[in-house]
Amino acid sequence: MNKISIIGAGMTGATTAHWLAEREIADLVLVDIVEGMPQGKSLDMLEAMPIIGKDVEIVGANDYAATRGSDIIIITAGLARKPGMSRDDLLSKNAEIVGPAATETLKHSPDAIFIVLTNPLDTMAYLTLKKTGLPRERVVGQAGILDSARMRAFVAKETGVSVENINCYVLGGHGDEMVPLTRHSNVAGIPLKEYLPADKLEAIVARTRKGGGEIVNLLKTGSAYYAPSVACTQMAEAILKDKHLIVPCAAYMNGEYGLKDMFFGVPVMLGRKGIEKIIEYKLDEDEKAMFEKSAGAVKETHEALKKLVEF
Ligand code: APR
Repeated sequence: MNKISIIGAGMTGATTAHWLAEREIADLVLVDIVEGMPQGKSLDMLEAMPIIGKDVEIVGANDYAATRGSDIIIITAGLARKPGMSRDDLLSKNAEIVGPAATETLKHSPDAIFIVLTNPLDTMAYLTLKKTGLPRERVVGQAGILDSARMRAFVAKETGVSVENINCYVLGGHGDEMVPLTRHSNVAGIPLKEYLPADKLEAIVARTRKGGGEIVNLLKTGSAYYAPSVACTQMAEAILKDKHLIVPCAAYMNGEYGLKDMFFGVPVMLGRKGIEKIIEYKLDEDEKAMFEKSAGAVKETHEALKKLVEF
């Protein structure tokens, strides 16, 4: 059985374990600093397995020894947003948590692939790559599947068509400057721009960009976790099953889309080696301008990180 360790057993971490356990694709370890909490959640989930008929081992721990030999490490440890906060407001606190979590878990699982969820996402993935020194194939950030799913959900609601027929691609940084690519999005193959009137489409794009904030404002005490965690589950499954699945994720740029030394949301192919390929769309002038703006915002956060942390 494959093994996945989840660092941070809060809302996102525990819900990721829940989705993963249902798919029976790996034994699971939940790690958190809060004493008893990861053990309690793991035991509770383990006791659910007979009911759903899944043979999954689930353990909780307060140290990293239990993560030994993991195929995948998922990092969700850190603070979540509260109303009025941007993802970037989390930078310094979460960098102090994610950096050590990445280096310590790597010691126990030298062959693991890292999936990062902690925000600010692109910069926490950058920190993980720099701190671990891993090749870029093995560090991937979750954001694009979630942002695209939000857009798909809004299009489904507007059109009354099944979510299964709706394909949307939201690329760029995981912030307010993210890039919903309407030209590449469609309803059963019909371009969104033809399917929806311009004002409706514009409203969906705007709501997608603020999708995380909408939920933070409703929850008041934390941020979204059901959709982020199932997005992460899809990534883990694609990796372990070597599916060669093309999905938007945050990847380290080495010249793609004219970007270097930064993480950015782009379509990637996920398989057993992690990121197998980065797909480059042909962008028109408007899309290029949106990419540049979004990349500028991500670079600013990367620069802020470099002032806080030495690599
Ligand atoms: N090691 C392990 N766990 C830690 C550490 C650490 N050093 N520091 C904090 N944690 C744990 C907390 O104890 C908490 O249980 O991380 C967990 C975070 O859980 P929540 O507060 O419920 O936050 P969550 O909604 O899961 O979001 C976590 O993921 O999606 C992102 O923006 C989100 O950055 C946030 C992160």
